Amino acid sequence: PPRKLSLITPSGRLTLGNHLGALRGMVAAQDHATCFFGVSDLHAMTTAHDPAELRERSREVATLMLACGLDPERATLFRQSEVPAHTGLAYLLECTALTGELSRMIQFKEKRRQAGGATGARASLFTYPVLMAADILLYRPEAVPVGDDQRQHVELTRDLALRFNRSYGPVFTVPEIEVPPVAARLRDLADPTRKMSKSAVSDAGVIRLLDDPATVRRKIGRAVTDSDTGPDAVRHDPVAKPGVSNLLELVAACTGSSPEAVAGGAPTYGALKKLATDAVVSVLEPVQRRYGELARDPGAVEEVYAAGARRCVEETGPVLYAARAAIGLG
Ligand code: TYM
Repeated sequence: PPRKLSLITPSGRLTLGNHLGALRGMVAAQDHATCFFGVSDLHAMTTAHDPAELRERSREVATLMLACGLDPERATLFRQSEVPAHTGLAYLLECTALTGELSRMIQFKEKRRQAGGATGARASLFTYPVLMAADILLYRPEAVPVGDDQRQHVELTRDLALRFNRSYGPVFTVPEIEVPPVAARLRDLADPTRKMSKSAVSDAGVIRLLDDPATVRRKIGRAVTDSDTGPDAVRHDPVAKPGVSNLLELVAACTGSSPEAVAGGAPTYGALKKLATDAVVSVLEPVQRRYGELARDPGAVEEVYAAGARRCVEETGPVLYAARAAIGLG
């Protein structure tokens, strides 16, 4: 079977974007692939963080990954910080990556601006994509199921794998990105020019996986649309109608339909928002129920991740060894 890998950073409370863009594809992959899925806790320290909050978010994300359907019987679940080869390989890849290509990363430029520019940004924010490349290449996956916002990072990972292999010998598999057919980049409901982000400044347009139904209804009710009142106002046109198109994609992804088909069944913006609320509430309901059950036994969740980390240590050791040998160490 093919190998697939993906991680989620505990830098905030998980959103519907994380679910539709990544977790769904990860759950589906378990049926046909050898899967490695992780909590990228080291990546959560690339911007200002509070230790107690990081520990709490890391626990919440680990639990939510199980609640969304990741199954330790069929996938290996782990925390990045518990598998030392990640930071070990990251340094070898820092000796492969060039400062120019890291400077071009869109996410780096955005987050550096948010951190107050060059003097406020941590060095690890700059090397973030190199650690991510190490996360991926250590497991030799063919595919990386992620949302569209990770495209540039996966491209860089491919470039680093190719360069390393060319310079030192064929150590790494060159992975492909795998994005979902719809909602690969869910937008913020209050500002549909931005992606829905777990670290957004305002919570108004961000649906959290643990939001209750009343909160979901309120956030969708206030979602930005447009002032179009024509008979075909409800249509999928992401450039001209970003807010409406985002809601259509949201419903399509939640119900396994297409944005066009959803538009056919919603004559008005009010009807579309009602459809969206119902669709989101029915997707979140089982996740929240399982989360409630799992949260009652945090020790069991920790045991899943500890067992996964032990398996990952075995899995990654030989790959790090091969990379060290190829580059001229040992
Ligand atoms: P992160 O934690 O920001 O997001 C986790 C996953 O959710 C996807 N996603 C979205 N998909 C659709 N619409 C959105 N609005 C949306 N927001 C987030 C992301 O694309 C991602 O798949 N750097 C990564 C974590 C990471 C990783 C890795 C991923 C670390 N190492 C190795 C894959 C392989 C990140 O911060 O994702």
